[in-house]
Amino acid sequence: MTKQPTKQRSKLVVGNWKMHGRLAANAALLEAVARGVQALPADVRVGVCVPFPYLAQTQALLGGSRVVWGAQDVSAHEQGAYTGEVAAGMVADFEAGFAIVGHSERRAYHGESSEVVAQKAQRALAVRLTPIVCVGETLEERESGATERVVGAQLDAVLAALSVEEAACIVVAYEPVWAIGTGKSATSEQAQQVHAFLRARLAAKGAQVADVPLLYGGSVKPENAAELFRQADIDGGLIGGASLKEGDFLAICAAAAAGARVAG
Ligand code: PGA
Repeated sequence: MTKQPTKQRSKLVVGNWKMHGRLAANAALLEAVARGVQALPADVRVGVCVPFPYLAQTQALLGGSRVVWGAQDVSAHEQGAYTGEVAAGMVADFEAGFAIVGHSERRAYHGESSEVVAQKAQRALAVRLTPIVCVGETLEERESGATERVVGAQLDAVLAALSVEEAACIVVAYEPVWAIGTGKSATSEQAQQVHAFLRARLAAKGAQVADVPLLYGGSVKPENAAELFRQADIDGGLIGGASLKEGDFLAICAAAAAGARVAG
């Protein structure tokens, strides 16, 4: 009997530095990450999303390495009189690969609706940046049983604005708001349950969309990463606090390598 090849998605680990960093500290961190990832198997992809002013520094230090860099947001507009905004095309000028869109901190503190997030995803795709579309419920929403309704609506708003071909090029990050920066990660079962739901929503958009990378984010640490990454529908992580410490970030990347082997 011929053995059917097991479907295997590679793992992706992306650091989200948030509003942290200074030139000198960034250099040490970026150089350590670029060096550390050399030891990882090829089926683990690694990225870092840095504050806008540090894109040039990141490009200079990571160019030629296997680490992909990106921004944490882009404007919903292409260009124009939008003081303080940064266009996706400007980010792409620095050979970036990713743009996080719809992070819960942007939704909560800057009033971004899912429609605005969808426009941002479109702007990113138009300049060949991969949008990392974040979705996630608050504690109150989880406790009232609204998790799937909330994350489903957040994802659907983006999918509705994209063609099937475009949707196949995104990354989705499930980040429960109550788990971000709290030290209280979702359990692997809780995360897998939501990921399976999101996977089905993606598959409903089109067969090519079913396999977009689905990252988990929210208090991922070296101690819980392997267990999370072992889950069938968790393709990696979006890492906040732990991405600022080279040892922790590289340990999480190594856990993804182990998870990729188990999944295969
Ligand atoms: P955290 O943040 O890992 O610090 O919880 C994750 C994120 O907000 O992307």
